Amino acid sequence: MPLTHTRDLFAKALNGKYALGAFNVNNMELIQAIVEACEEEKAPLMLQISKGARQYANPVYLKKLIEAAVSLSNIPIAIHLDHGDSFELCKECIDEGFTSVMIDASHEPLEKNIEICKKVVDYAHQHNCSVEGELGMLVGAQHDDGEEGGGYSKGGCYTHPDEAVQFVKASGVDSLAVAIGNSHGAYKFKGEQHLDLDRLKAIKKALMDAGLGDYPLVLHGASSVPQHLVAEVNKYGGKMPDAQGVPEADIEVARRVGCTKVNIDTDLRIAMTAAIRKVFAESPKEFDPRKYLGPARQAVKDLVRHKVKNVLCCAGHAFD
Ligand code: G3H
Ligand code: 13P
Ligand code: ZN
Repeated sequence: MPLTHTRDLFAKALNGKYALGAFNVNNMELIQAIVEACEEEKAPLMLQISKGARQYANPVYLKKLIEAAVSLSNIPIAIHLDHGDSFELCKECIDEGFTSVMIDASHEPLEKNIEICKKVVDYAHQHNCSVEGELGMLVGAQHDDGEEGGGYSKGGCYTHPDEAVQFVKASGVDSLAVAIGNSHGAYKFKGEQHLDLDRLKAIKKALMDAGLGDYPLVLHGASSVPQHLVAEVNKYGGKMPDAQGVPEADIEVARRVGCTKVNIDTDLRIAMTAAIRKVFAESPKEFDPRKYLGPARQAVKDLVRHKVKNVLCCAGHAFD
């Protein structure tokens, strides 16, 4: 079937109170693993491509691989640019037919962030493409005492509920990536740290109270860094001491509060790495790439099946 628009996937996810997995892809094995997993679980799917993925695999290769996957599968699939860092990159992807792009100007002050996002929104909306913006910085768990007398402090790394409203209204973005203690990579937290889920609720409520409805939020840095996979990596010669991700229970709460799109990349990387290391350690004579990329693909597939079924709860919703 053809690509499905991000806006349609979002509308159904909000309605059905589940989250969409937005999985990063860089090569054929990842695409096959993710699409097969979602196909078997009847889950709607977002495939996302970063600037680095486009540089690694070549934009044409990636687009054609995804086109192949889309044409061979019967589940709804959207294609999204992850962390677009310029108008030009967003425009390229919009012109290539992506159903949504992220413009990430979160490192800029609020007004500048709004200005940059608005320019992308104006172009994207003329070309039937949705836009994700980000407010706040993905710096991981920080201490935020809030303002005197309670509430949240403005201008910090975390997303402020009132500023979220201002940002969404002024920029016109279709979804908002929030900073609530989340961060990218395999070393997110130490010990018992968590996402700031009360703040997430406050952001969702502020958007609702401002008349923006059940507005779609996006959670970046949502890998859980499964400890059994980290243990495999370390057992077979890797070194990932103290790797720690977002507890799955936090992701489940984020989904219930209204994170419609949940970004996962690191967990895929760890699953692939663990499987490849195992083959290399157990079969040092092996040199056929299919003998280690095959198990790596299977490991990603198993992981994605678990995510869509048990964490994101989008399994079974492909044909709603
Ligand atoms: O948010 C970052 C994603 O994990 C993509 O990473 O820029 O290394 O492709 P990348
Ligand atoms: P992880 O590093 O937690 O997988 O996050 C990926 C992400 O946010 C992609 O935009
Ligand atoms: Zn991200």
